[in-house]
Amino acid sequence: MTDEQGADSIAEGLADGMGGVEETAAAATTQLEAAADLETVAALERRLLNRSGPLAEAKSRIGALDPAERAAAGRRLNEARARIESAVAAARERLGAADDNDDRYAAERLDLTERLPRSTALSRGRIHPVTAARYRLEDVFVGMGYSVEEGPEVESAWYNFEALNIPDWHPARGSFDTIFVNLGEPEEVMLRSHTSPVQIRTMENREPPIYVVAPGRTFRTDTADATHLPAFNQIEGLAIDRDINLGDLAGTINTFVGALFGRDVETRLRPSYFPFTEPSAEFDISRPDGSWLELGGCGMVHPNVLRNCGIDPEEWQGFAFGFGIDRLAVMRHEIDDIREFVNNDVRFLSQF
Ligand code: DAH
Repeated sequence: MTDEQGADSIAEGLADGMGGVEETAAAATTQLEAAADLETVAALERRLLNRSGPLAEAKSRIGALDPAERAAAGRRLNEARARIESAVAAARERLGAADDNDDRYAAERLDLTERLPRSTALSRGRIHPVTAARYRLEDVFVGMGYSVEEGPEVESAWYNFEALNIPDWHPARGSFDTIFVNLGEPEEVMLRSHTSPVQIRTMENREPPIYVVAPGRTFRTDTADATHLPAFNQIEGLAIDRDINLGDLAGTINTFVGALFGRDVETRLRPSYFPFTEPSAEFDISRPDGSWLELGGCGMVHPNVLRNCGIDPEEWQGFAFGFGIDRLAVMRHEIDDIREFVNNDVRFLSQF
């Protein structure tokens, strides 16, 4: 059946009321049922249903019919079109077009299910306990009239050692277990092994009187264990003024320990040695069971250190101290293993 014949026979059928449309639809259905591939189905669909196909052509001739016959002819055309359309769909399905898509859709499916907690309140992040301890310390010292300074984490030998009265032959260099950086002269550039270099940077940049604390990250070759981390945090304190003595240092330590731990906690200084202070001490705080716990080092700033920063030791004196913030947080929260601070297990962190 050619398109011409199809259209003519339908038109004739419409005109004389004797079928034709139904025959066309039946013939099309048979052809579609026999189609062997999707291209044949597409070609048949195009030929039968497009705007110049037999059905469209027949429809354009409805206007020429007797008005009484038009509605019935239109209905028969629509029915024929619907039959052909469902035969096309059936042929497509039989030949697997739908199945192919199903596979593809299944493979491309995205699971966008979002599970909301029972309560509508979303859980919020919180400040890490070490950061909280640092903020707390800053607050206490700012309350005592100190300002907060920061220095670089990568330092030169001058700031980390030399200016702090630790020349390269000095045995104290070995005690710092320094991590060196492969830059410039050997052992000249390093990750700072304490926050004391910020003392030097501050004295270089500011005129006395100076009252600063410098919290920040420090690094040593330590292997991580229950009480050590290779990257840890310290806070440094420096006070430079006229007529400062060891009593001022002891009073300052007592005041900030009281502000942190409560008035019941006592402090004591024990003689010690650091190259950058003279005299030097270690300071301890009392525990409820009456024993003492070492917190950090301190002392009167060595005259050589003041001179290295262009400050006249005859006119100005000062004290300095430094201790580990992570250790303080371990103590405060009675944590068994300092490595918990860097494991970042939310079940641990969410307790603070
Ligand atoms: N920098 C020392 C350390 O890391 C701690 C220290 C001791 C800091 C005495 C000071 C000080 O400012 O006066 O072991």
